[in-house]
Amino acid sequence: MNILGIESSCDDSAACLLSHRTIVEHVIYSQIQEHKEFGGVVPQIAARAHVDRLPALIEKCLHKGIPDVIAATAGPGLIAGVMVGLNMAKALSIALNVPFYGINHLEGHILVPRLTTSIPFPYYVLLVSGGHTQLMTVKGISHYDLLATTLDDSCGECFDKVAKMLGLSPHGKEIEKYAQEGDPYAYDLPIPLKGRVEMAFSFSGLKNAVRTIVMDSMVNVNNFCASFQRVATEHLLNQTEKLFKKNSITKDFVLCGGVAANQYIKNSFNQLCEKYELNFHTPPIQLCTDNAAMIAYACLERIEHGIPASDLDIIPKSRWPLQDEHMKSCGKFTTK
Ligand code: KG4
Ligand code: ZN
Repeated sequence: MNILGIESSCDDSAACLLSHRTIVEHVIYSQIQEHKEFGGVVPQIAARAHVDRLPALIEKCLHKGIPDVIAATAGPGLIAGVMVGLNMAKALSIALNVPFYGINHLEGHILVPRLTTSIPFPYYVLLVSGGHTQLMTVKGISHYDLLATTLDDSCGECFDKVAKMLGLSPHGKEIEKYAQEGDPYAYDLPIPLKGRVEMAFSFSGLKNAVRTIVMDSMVNVNNFCASFQRVATEHLLNQTEKLFKKNSITKDFVLCGGVAANQYIKNSFNQLCEKYELNFHTPPIQLCTDNAAMIAYACLERIEHGIPASDLDIIPKSRWPLQDEHMKSCGKFTTK
């Protein structure tokens, strides 16, 4: 079975042709240059760039095989961008007379590790991306228990803003790059929620502490990036360790989402998992950050699980928690 996956929820335009469990073609166009001068993703520019770029990416996939199923991100994300990919997918499914699946972007992130490694259900997952910071138990398809989420900003957003405050491109990978040459203990930044019993995440306090220091003094960028990266990571580790200290219902832990591309964070979680004798998994970098293989793969898992195709009148959703009842079917969720 060939599945064409389309992703357009933020600033990456992507298309993938998945044949059974093999990626036959996967093309990603990063719009980072289009948004650079604005210091962040501009929704309208993103939507226009998807209109501009997606057809060629899709065409490239179609040259490798005719899809039996079309899947596209239906949310959550920047609504105008989601609309672009979703409508192209619907049009293709009508033209080719094949089923269409509207896929939850977050489900793509948390299931795609199973494409490259065999990870049985249930497993714990920490999803760290530009929009989300969530600890969940993945019990099976459509059974995602939320264990902890952020009280304010996401981890990725905090990395982006800190990079921007330091005069770097507003992206987490800039922090990682400069941190490589820095001293992680040079700056004393507050570890969020330290000493609190509940399991949760928070990044707004850390972001404000960074703002105060950066506004008041000249900082050494390498040392500052290294210190920030250490503190943000310690926070993620502290909260996740609360879960590991409880009776574990699984031996498998997955780190995924764009921030999971960070090698320092990956190594830190690998060590934490070793301490608790858990198997550590994280997808290859190109499947951590936004991509279309995860959309095609989530569709494949849904089909294998016997979930029927979506109705063609489904609407794009800017917010779409994985615990939403529409997740069960991905069927009808219209304005009617
Ligand atoms: O999953 P993703 O590509 O898009 C969303 O679904 O949001 O995640 C994007 C986030 C951005 O905030 C980006 O700065 C962050 O992932 N990110 C990183 C790294 N690579 C991407 N953060 C820290 N270190 C990295 N190497
Ligand atoms: Zn994402």
